Amino acid sequence: MNMNDIIIKKRDGGKLTKEEIKWTVSGITNGLIPDYQASALLMAILFRHMDEEETFELTEVMRDSGDVVDLSAIKGINVDKHSTGGVGDKVTLIVGPIAAACGVPIAKMSGRGLGFTGGTIDKLESIPGFRTTLEPEDFFAQVKRIGISLIGQSGHIAAADKKLYALRDVTGTVDDLSLIASSIMSKKLAAGSDAILLDVKCGRGAFMKTPEAAMKLGKLMCRIGKRAGKNTVAVITGMDQPLGNAVGNSLEVIEAIEVLKGKGPEDITELTFTLSGMMVQMGGKAESAEEGRRMAEEAVRSGAALEKFRQLIEAQGGDPRVIEDYSLMPQAKYKAEYIAEKSGYVRSVDPLTIGICSQHTGAGRQKKEDPIDPSAGVYLMKKTGDTVSKGDVLAVFMGDSEEKVGSALREAEFKKAFVIGDEEPEKEPLIKGIVGTDL
Ligand code: URA
Repeated sequence: MNMNDIIIKKRDGGKLTKEEIKWTVSGITNGLIPDYQASALLMAILFRHMDEEETFELTEVMRDSGDVVDLSAIKGINVDKHSTGGVGDKVTLIVGPIAAACGVPIAKMSGRGLGFTGGTIDKLESIPGFRTTLEPEDFFAQVKRIGISLIGQSGHIAAADKKLYALRDVTGTVDDLSLIASSIMSKKLAAGSDAILLDVKCGRGAFMKTPEAAMKLGKLMCRIGKRAGKNTVAVITGMDQPLGNAVGNSLEVIEAIEVLKGKGPEDITELTFTLSGMMVQMGGKAESAEEGRRMAEEAVRSGAALEKFRQLIEAQGGDPRVIEDYSLMPQAKYKAEYIAEKSGYVRSVDPLTIGICSQHTGAGRQKKEDPIDPSAGVYLMKKTGDTVSKGDVLAVFMGDSEEKVGSALREAEFKKAFVIGDEEPEKEPLIKGIVGTDL
């Protein structure tokens, strides 16, 4: 086969065969196909698209390009959960312990973040002592013993996606439905769970800007999951403002603990009850998502979910006293307040700007080797729909560098992260729809 012919075929709107996709992906992964040809093909795909058959083939080839985890030693239906990414998204830290407390085994590998804050793994590492690298036998033993383990994703999962995503990131070729769906699903299928719950974000702070686009992506990923024999469900959720009030690593762990104590912000509490209820149902522990939700609420009310989080922290070497004493979590040395210049209603809080501000504070990475500051981030004192008076604090920026915190504040003011107006904004539902393998 010849790479130039394959690029030309796609450029002219042709359909790639399974053999061509396999040959191309393996050539890109092992370095035989140069980056300029790989990038040219990605751009051709962006303009000409792949049909569903090509997307399935690409997903399977990428899944098989690295380790495929076998979780069959763990009894029960393993349910994985994945979010397409949002600002303030600490959902895994909450739904993992809730679902585990309801009897669903959670053997989850998560990623580090490149962007606004760290990923789930960086957030967990802000708990003093918490280890996110476990030997496979310890990972399995922990899930068997306490029902949950959250560790970093092995570098050998979907090796082709790693290479392709790095190229897409710098060649303007991220935003293609087939490329996004195959990238996410190749990693989910390789991670070995029996069922997959996808949280597909839509809105200003997400890849997909509209509920319709997110629905399309969700349906495509569900069909990929079904073809691979996995029960897959996608929930379409809004990302028009950050989720919860905390954006940052240690800040988000604290907020997750508050939700597990039944004292969290309304939006994240509502979303995590819905998602964990669905996980409980997909894990075979409830007849319906509604019954699952009731079980999830009870796990929080009774303290069982918080106890599961405590066991998780303890099992992975962390200091469980953080649950009662937040001062044991990394504390920011510097703070800067963003003050309201007028009174009225908060009409919007721009998630993208808050995300960029969070990165300025040091909570996120720009390059994968960048260190992150676990104490850094943004705490929102007001959210969309709240009333404010001139002089109120809208948000607090925190971190261990005065310069970085100041730069975050200037960014927020310059970009008008908060819009205040006289009219109360309409309340948008956070959950926009649910799609499954039957759709
Ligand atoms: N997340 C991924 O893992 N891949 C994409 O292409 C987009 C989001």
